[in-house]
Amino acid sequence: MSEITLSIIKPDAVRNGYTGKILAQIQAADLKIVGLRMLQLSRKEAEGFYAVHKERPFYQELVEFMISGPVVVSALEGEKAIERYRKLMGATDPAKADEGTLRKLFAESLQNNAVHGSDAPETSRVEVAYFFSSVDLVS
Ligand code: CMP
Repeated sequence: MSEITLSIIKPDAVRNGYTGKILAQIQAADLKIVGLRMLQLSRKEAEGFYAVHKERPFYQELVEFMISGPVVVSALEGEKAIERYRKLMGATDPAKADEGTLRKLFAESLQNNAVHGSDAPETSRVEVAYFFSSVDLVS
């Protein structure tokens, strides 16, 4: 079944000039880009996006990082897109990520880990809608 997942190219990767390389890898992995925006998150938007991590010790620092520069958000469509994009990203901690994954190649640290991807269909629906209205997505 075809799914849509949300990708964020985080401020570290945008700052380091990896946007094009990451989008190229997404396309090479046969994930179809059906929405694409570059934006500067406000503090409120970053706090809202990561609200599930509110009680975690790293939350405030994560919010600071996510507003430290522009991000590139995209909606990716394909069969099992959520799982396939998570595989392409690699483990959250780049030190534990497999060779060739986006985080192994482009991340700076556990926090500055280059990319975000939705982890389940329920979260992907909320996350895609956080940045795109249905008219913004191509079919
Ligand atoms: P992401 O997949 O976007 O989901 C939550 C983010 O919090 C994660 O990527 C990292 O950027 C960050 N994160 C997760 N665990 C830690 C941690 N232990 N310390 C610092 N940042 C973390």
